[in-house]
Amino acid sequence: MKVGILGAGAMGSGIAQVASTAGHEVILIDTNEAALQKSAAKLQKIMNRLIEKGRVDQATAKGIQQRISYKKDLSDFKDCGLIIEAIIEDITIKKSVFSKIETVVSEQCVLATNTSSLSVASIAAACKIPSRVIGIHFFNPAPLMKLVEIIPAIQTDPTIVETTKKLIDDWGKLTVLAKDTPGFIVNRVARPFYGEALRIYEEGYTEPATIDWAMKEIGGFRMGPFELMDYIGNDINYTVTETVFQSFWYDPRYKPSFTQKRYAEAGYLGRKSGRGYYDYSEGATKPVPNQDQTLGNYIVDRIVVMLINEAADALYLNIASREDIDLAMTKGVNYPKGLLKWADEKGIQEVVNQLDKLYHEYLEDRYRCSPLLRRMARDTKTFY
Ligand SMILES: NC(=O)c1ccc[n+]([C@@H]2O[C@H](COP(=O)([O-])OP(=O)(O)OC[C@H]3O[C@@H](n4cnc5c(N)ncnc54)[C@H](O)[C@@H]3O)[C@@H](O)[C@H]2O)c1
Repeated sequence: MKVGILGAGAMGSGIAQVASTAGHEVILIDTNEAALQKSAAKLQKIMNRLIEKGRVDQATAKGIQQRISYKKDLSDFKDCGLIIEAIIEDITIKKSVFSKIETVVSEQCVLATNTSSLSVASIAAACKIPSRVIGIHFFNPAPLMKLVEIIPAIQTDPTIVETTKKLIDDWGKLTVLAKDTPGFIVNRVARPFYGEALRIYEEGYTEPATIDWAMKEIGGFRMGPFELMDYIGNDINYTVTETVFQSFWYDPRYKPSFTQKRYAEAGYLGRKSGRGYYDYSEGATKPVPNQDQTLGNYIVDRIVVMLINEAADALYLNIASREDIDLAMTKGVNYPKGLLKWADEKGIQEVVNQLDKLYHEYLEDRYRCSPLLRRMARDTKTFY
């Protein structure tokens, strides 16, 4: 089957590499000639590196490159069996592009969007055959990140959900099914990792270096929240938070942080601008964390119970299955443990107690405990 990818930016290029590596002929389309050239040059560099490391041989690399055709005109999608759209995150543009693609492809062609935050249902509604539209959400960089969220819209034909999931599994990815709601699984459940860390910092408990130390050394996370925000970019991370907040009709649980907004506005974007919560200039001294165990435990407990609360609430609202929620967080953002498994280990009653303590201290809706956790504690149930 020929696979069409629209948008040759960071995501489209990565997805094209994945599809081509899986053996598909790929048509990669972008309206911007420079983006196409950059994409091809980047793939060349990646292949050279993989050859150097002995991960692929010359012939395989050549095959991966040759199977991708770089095009500018939508009509080149005509023989494709699957299109994955990865253009700018703008609902009006996406809708218009989907209705145009439909005039080119056959009725059997599946149309997928890689959107991170838009409604798949509204994109599907722009099509004559909405039942063939689905969300396939890759993570960046697509060739390295194992997790892919599959998002059926309410209009999507169940057979298409099944075949799409199987296809992406066959590409060597780990797929999870998520309901068409803001942030799907990962971008929803992960919000407190950043938000609660920023809140602890804003309250003056301690500095980013200490919060990062606690989350890594005590919590077992691979990166601390501030290191990770600097890595992702404060502009990008802030926008995702703001989008999720707005999409949830301003639920205070997802309220963005002024600290991060100001960092983004100031151009303290993180690694890419040389400065974020940390200074990345040459010779800069690294701040020393306060390795106080009591403070460290407080930080980890507070952030982890907030994460568990999000995971439990996602399960409560049927956003995804128990297994998929845990898999999404361990494979999508490398958490040391599935959050629901973590809840069992901590004890559900203990999680509820810690959340209630926060709630009673702040009297903010942000700290409200998911009804599912409360019921489970009452009935002495566990997730697994
Ligand atoms: N970057 C991430 O971490 C990430 C992760 C998952 C999903 N996404 C989603 O993937 C999509 C693409 O993101 P990205 O980071 O690759 O963006 P990007 O800006 O790197 O690339 C977008 C590309 O689309 C092209 N484009 C724009 N409008 C077009 C049109 N009408 N027709 C053809 N090409 C067009 C642009 O020229 C550009 O090359 C977005 O929906 C984004 O939300 C991004």
